[in-house]
Amino acid sequence: MRRLVIKDLEGDIENRTARISVIGQGYIGLPTSLLMAKAGFQVLGFDINEELIRELSKGRTRLDREEGIQELISSLLGERYIPTNDERDLMGSDIVLIAVPTPKNANGPDLRMVISALETALRVIREGGLIIIESTLPPGTFERIIVPTVKKHGFSIGSNIYLAYCPERALPGRLINELVNNVRVIGAIDDRSAQLTKLLYKTFVRGEIELVDPLTAEVVKLVENSFRDVNIAFANEVARICEALGIDVRKVRELANKHPRVNLLVPGIGVGGSCLTKDPLFLYWASLENGYEPIILKRARDLNANMPYHYASILDDVVRNIKNGETGTIAVLGATYKGDVPDSRESPVEPFVRELLRKGHRVKVYDPLVTEAFGGEYVSNIFEAVRGADAIAFVTDHSEFRFLNLSKLRKAVKVEDPVVLFDGRMIFNPKEVEEAGFIYISVGMSLSTHKLPIKEFITVR
Ligand SMILES: NC(=O)c1ccc[n+]([C@@H]2O[C@H](COP(=O)([O-])OP(=O)(O)OC[C@H]3O[C@@H](n4cnc5c(N)ncnc54)[C@H](O)[C@@H]3O)[C@@H](O)[C@H]2O)c1
Repeated sequence: MRRLVIKDLEGDIENRTARISVIGQGYIGLPTSLLMAKAGFQVLGFDINEELIRELSKGRTRLDREEGIQELISSLLGERYIPTNDERDLMGSDIVLIAVPTPKNANGPDLRMVISALETALRVIREGGLIIIESTLPPGTFERIIVPTVKKHGFSIGSNIYLAYCPERALPGRLINELVNNVRVIGAIDDRSAQLTKLLYKTFVRGEIELVDPLTAEVVKLVENSFRDVNIAFANEVARICEALGIDVRKVRELANKHPRVNLLVPGIGVGGSCLTKDPLFLYWASLENGYEPIILKRARDLNANMPYHYASILDDVVRNIKNGETGTIAVLGATYKGDVPDSRESPVEPFVRELLRKGHRVKVYDPLVTEAFGGEYVSNIFEAVRGADAIAFVTDHSEFRFLNLSKLRKAVKVEDPVVLFDGRMIFNPKEVEEAGFIYISVGMSLSTHKLPIKEFITVR
């Protein structure tokens, strides 16, 4: 006998008897599953990656540096949180939440994984169940693709199935905290779907919950990341201006930020991660399709994407200066797109390394969290990585790097000639770097390094 559709699901959420399945057990899906399990639900964490599910079943995750995740797995695994890669386990789910990637390709957004996950959800959801999409959707996707797909499977939204879009906006490195405390924006085309989704999130979210139409939710999510990308681009632009004018961006930033209405971000070798590199483009493409070509979004994206090439070119010049025109050995420290996060997707370190290799240098790469080397030689120990290097490039702000003994690092290089330390994330005090025996170069510094022979450069400083 079919259950009473609307009242039952509300009651099941309130009583924590709703069976929840989460499709995708990555950065977003796993912590969200754990938080719902902690709130009292039985949660099936489904993923097509068999290795990931095997590891999770043993209580292991690559997100173990995220505060609280390991503890949640230890206390909930096998009881209220069950990882699986068998779709049959999900049959009859009351609620299915989708958290699979939405990458971009050369021509636009790639929605194949979201569609495939939605089709899984439609096969396993019980009649009268609720499907929530947390994966990032380009504007218009909910109404133009998601809703028709649901209808094609014979469901009637707001009648025998409920459907909402709740874009995730949590920051890796602070996932549990942000999943609980951030404001949530829920987009739905019918009131019932919105209310049921709100009821579910209220079981584990402390931030406010706002209900809007799906298109507004889609745009809000993308505007947030575009805001960040544009602001980083502005900081990077200021750094490039300072380089051109021959002054230090550190001082400019320090003084400008003393103004009550200025908050210039830290410039660096580029922007990475799966979200910031695609979300502004999703917004750009959608607007373009609808008749307005955004001016800032694309320029900001291009500027940020060019930063790794720019600094690879500067480092190439500096090393050739030291080596009388020859190429050299460069130790690249850091591979992930962000400090203390084991994620190298869309990392700006990749174009940086590939460009140095293309220019003919030997490149050794060390990262404490991942073994990715982007075509360079991976070295598992920082002191081994810097041995024999003509230049050391810090390109990720891992905590491990911030507290390094720089004199010890300089000794480990075992090279008498000048050795350059490129501070691509502005994490060091230039004076301390020079006292340790390195030539310090960084983002937003005088481009005399670029124009003058190295000996003159040293004299100038
Ligand atoms: N990582 C972030 O910082 C972040 C922040 C906010 C929003 N988002 C958005 O959240 C979504 C998920 O991102 P993520 O970083 O968690 O991705 P992720 O790559 O860490 O995890 C996604 C998981 O989904 C699995 N998967 C892919 N297709 C599947 C399918 N059809 N069925 C079952 N599993 C499938 C993959 O194997 C992978 O383990 C994306 O749309 C992203 O834009 C991510």
